[in-house]
Amino acid sequence: MAKLFGNLNLVVAVGLVFAIIVMVVFAGDPSANAPISAGRVLIWMHVFFGILWIGLLYYLNFVQVPTMPKVPAELKAGVTGYIAPNVFFFFRWSALFTVLTGLSIAIVGHFAHEAFTFSGAGQTNLIGLGMYLALIMAANVWFIIWPAQKKILGIVEATAEEKAAAAPRALIASRTNLLLSLPMLYCMVSANIPV
Ligand code: HEM
Repeated sequence: MAKLFGNLNLVVAVGLVFAIIVMVVFAGDPSANAPISAGRVLIWMHVFFGILWIGLLYYLNFVQVPTMPKVPAELKAGVTGYIAPNVFFFFRWSALFTVLTGLSIAIVGHFAHEAFTFSGAGQTNLIGLGMYLALIMAANVWFIIWPAQKKILGIVEATAEEKAAAAPRALIASRTNLLLSLPMLYCMVSANIPV
């Protein structure tokens, strides 16, 4: 047991196998109404990456940022030098894979154009709004938060002035994503378009 739970990759691999077994078993039960389809597997992957992304966004806004001022100066490097770079690795890539799986759901479901042009029924307009909000959030991550954090964390060369200017920019973009995440999630879980 220690060998399994001590190995992160092995735990994820076993979890994936377990998930595939669940898919196959319930696909065989008509009363479960859970046939295996590209749309259903994409939604499952989408929600996994979405949880990872939003989970790290909430960790940063509710835990790391409010706590950093209380961390003794000599201990801050533990966060900025080790934890934060890892947080931003999973944060930015989970954002990208949430977008790619989300767009794929809309394409496989044949409602991407209606959703993005608000030219369909209420449900597609609802997911359309959710997709625009989530795309703004993803752009904040890749084009504002991550470039600013690379300077703040010393991953790229930056003067003290550049670091000082990057901090409020990163905070405002991150808090904007926190704000947008609430209506975005309502749109995501309420659209319920069969895919
Ligand atoms: C952090 C960001 C996001 C989270 C947490 C999230 C979460 C979710 C959830 C929980 C669902 C409902 C799944 C279900 O019907 O059972 C969903 C559906 C969906 N999401 Fe997202 N999503 C996010 C971002 C995006 C993005 C960026 C896009 C595309 C640009 C997108 C497109 C979609 C689509 C098309 C659906 C299916 C709607 C339906 O069939 O009713 N999502 N999302």
